[in-house]
Amino acid sequence: MDTSSFETDLSLFKYDDLEALPEEYRELTEDERTERIEAARAELGDDVVVLGHNYQRREIVEHADFIGDSYQLSKEAANADADYVVFGGVTFMAESADIITDDSQSVILPSMEASCPMAGMAEALQVDAAWADITDAAPDENIIPITYMNSYADLKAFCAEQGGLVCTSSNAHRAFEWAFERGDKVLFLPDKHLGENTAHRLGLEDSTVEWDPWDAEGKTAEAVADADIVLWDGYCQVHERFTADHVAEVREDHQDVNVVVHPECRREVVEAADVVGSTSTITQTVEDADPGETWAIGTEIHLANHLQRWHPEVNVVPLCGDACMDCNAMRQIDPNYLAWVLEELVEGRERNVVEVAAEEKELAQVALDRMLEI
Ligand code: 13P
Ligand code: SF4
Repeated sequence: MDTSSFETDLSLFKYDDLEALPEEYRELTEDERTERIEAARAELGDDVVVLGHNYQRREIVEHADFIGDSYQLSKEAANADADYVVFGGVTFMAESADIITDDSQSVILPSMEASCPMAGMAEALQVDAAWADITDAAPDENIIPITYMNSYADLKAFCAEQGGLVCTSSNAHRAFEWAFERGDKVLFLPDKHLGENTAHRLGLEDSTVEWDPWDAEGKTAEAVADADIVLWDGYCQVHERFTADHVAEVREDHQDVNVVVHPECRREVVEAADVVGSTSTITQTVEDADPGETWAIGTEIHLANHLQRWHPEVNVVPLCGDACMDCNAMRQIDPNYLAWVLEELVEGRERNVVEVAAEEKELAQVALDRMLEI
């Protein structure tokens, strides 16, 4: 098959300067690796801070100084005064950390292959083209673009330039309110489910329209003109997997079960759940549960597994059992990579540094600062 004519210009792997893991790190046992990571950390002391997103493997979060959701971690990155921020997360999170931290600090993503597919669903060039169509459809209205944190820096910069901002799953409703205080309409990218769930939270569910950038026929100027919220047609494949049937089944299988889900889940799943929130809300919900309570977790499987381990007094069950997915992007952060990048830092070599281009950085910072202020 000749693949040379395939369109490969998708930003699934935004950084193509991936450095392969040296051979000697491939065969480490967990004990050897732990010893080496701890030794490197002791040597580096306060020069390094390790951040671990809630979806990272146990072997990563065990070495993290801070574990949290993407909002909490962006704040930790902003507060860090270490020379090196090693980010156990995905590319867009490391980019945001680079934007927020000082120029003298380096942000390191242990493996450059950790790219969130949803972030790749809204490319800045594609958004530029859509923006022209959307603004044409509503020429007298002030449209404010909001991008979910799960997007690349160039899109964050675009939002700042057009008077918009960034949000995470824990502050999307506040970002929408901020936008409606300043404009007439919101374009929300790239996650249509978070957008729809936020519209419901604000009572604007009857005034949304989906924007499918791949479907020219679907772009009806009239529908855009009538809506308050235009939802970019992106989604997370890990969270789209959950269905309302999973919620019904878990309620049948477990007496008195409570269900908590992430707002990247489909609307009907969120409606059927008891609690909806970011990964830190999910964590807090289980932390606050009484011993013996049962909680079904509708998010990435590693967080459900951490919660089971961290709270043995609570009965934690994954919402769709063995069918629950792990995030392939998050999984790329292999703990052997963590050992490698830390030992390289001890030797004075920086590997897999994420550096946002200067022209994007300044504007993207404006969009992130607006978020940190709401
Ligand atoms: P949080 O902002 O809730 O940590 O979610 C990040 C994410 O990637 C969810 O899929
Ligand atoms: Fe992206 Fe979904 Fe993975 Fe989150 S869980 S990083 S949205 S693919």
